[in-house]
Amino acid sequence: MKIAIGNDHAALDLKWEIADYIKELGHEAVNFGTDTPESCDYPVFGEKVARAVAAGEADCGILICGTGVGISLAANKVNGIRCAVCSEPVTARLVKQHNNANIIAFGARIVGSETAKEIVKAYLDAEFLGGRHAERVAMIMELEKKD
Ligand code: RB5
Repeated sequence: MKIAIGNDHAALDLKWEIADYIKELGHEAVNFGTDTPESCDYPVFGEKVARAVAAGEADCGILICGTGVGISLAANKVNGIRCAVCSEPVTARLVKQHNNANIIAFGARIVGSETAKEIVKAYLDAEFLGGRHAERVAMIMELEKKD
């Protein structure tokens, strides 16, 4: 799979570690930055990854900031995106199985690198279950058309 990855300054080291891990798992990591430790604006990188995923240029995305929250909020403003914050692997599996999340986010100030890797593996190994979950996901996507 081709996986878009993005982060802010709070998550630079973890981003590189996770990008290497994605490659170890046999996937391709496409890096959208930031790549420097200077303070930056997480919405910029949330949007870059979200647009790549929404356009089908990547199969899914991984976003990392301090908490995972700000960058996920930005990503979720892009049509077609379902970005879920995960702080442990059970949630990471379920957001794929039930919500068909196309991006996950987590916080470099919240989870350690081993837990982050478990989150990534659980998400990438999981498959969307469809059925009643597909109907609910369709309802979520309909909300984009209401405003
Ligand atoms: C940056 O200091 C911090 O606000 C950011 O990484 C993130 O936690 C926002 O949600």
